[in-house]
Amino acid sequence: MRWIEVDNYEQMSEQAAAVVINLVKEKPEAVIGLATGGTPAGTYKRLVDDYKQNTTSYENIKTVNLDEYVGLEKNSDQSYTYYMDQHLFDHINLKRENIHLPKAETPPYEQDAKDYEQLIEDLGGVDLQVLGIGENGHIGFNEPGTPFSSKTGVVELDPSTREANARYFENKDDVPTHAISMGISTIMKSKKIILLASGAKKAPILYNLFKTDVTEDIPASILKEHPDVTIIADSEALALLKEKEGSVNR
Ligand code: PGA
Repeated sequence: MRWIEVDNYEQMSEQAAAVVINLVKEKPEAVIGLATGGTPAGTYKRLVDDYKQNTTSYENIKTVNLDEYVGLEKNSDQSYTYYMDQHLFDHINLKRENIHLPKAETPPYEQDAKDYEQLIEDLGGVDLQVLGIGENGHIGFNEPGTPFSSKTGVVELDPSTREANARYFENKDDVPTHAISMGISTIMKSKKIILLASGAKKAPILYNLFKTDVTEDIPASILKEHPDVTIIADSEALALLKEKEGSVNR
């Protein structure tokens, strides 16, 4: 696990976008795993800017998103499908048939989840997975306590996650209770992973992640066993770690 400290959200987004763009150029038919939430939005903006300026082509790129809320209509402005369209997909030359998110709109959800796991396998696996991290250490929607062996499935959101995501909904109670999420073992099969973190709210979890042994209580800790993980985090997110440990370098 490699730790990179950057000054702020803009620099984090710049570096993450550079990793994606390099891969797209090196491997124009790559499979890229994408995340939603506040953290990667700036990365997507840079990808769109780069596409407009430099015409980096996504014609043969395939994408698989980490997760989708269960029971929301795809055109609901809270769905991750909508988020991805708004932030990225509507603005670059990805082919619609190469864009994948879990269906999760209507039952049978378990079958959708199984199909999604199979789809990722059929695509040949993920070349680069972009991850955020929850304040509780979740990756995707794999909440603390999820077995590391988990595959893509229907998961229940932790109350703290619903609380954290309530800012995107009109009412707190509107936040879905379940999602379909890539499993932890699914994420771990990605060839390369970048995990992005920004802001003071992520400082405690990054400190805990740095210090902890691998434990299912902190889902992101399994990434310590992955051969190619880079954490790109800004100064605010790393403040506690640096205060206690002095440096992000061991
Ligand atoms: P955020 O979410 O980017 O909105 O902070 C991260 C996550 O929950 O994984």
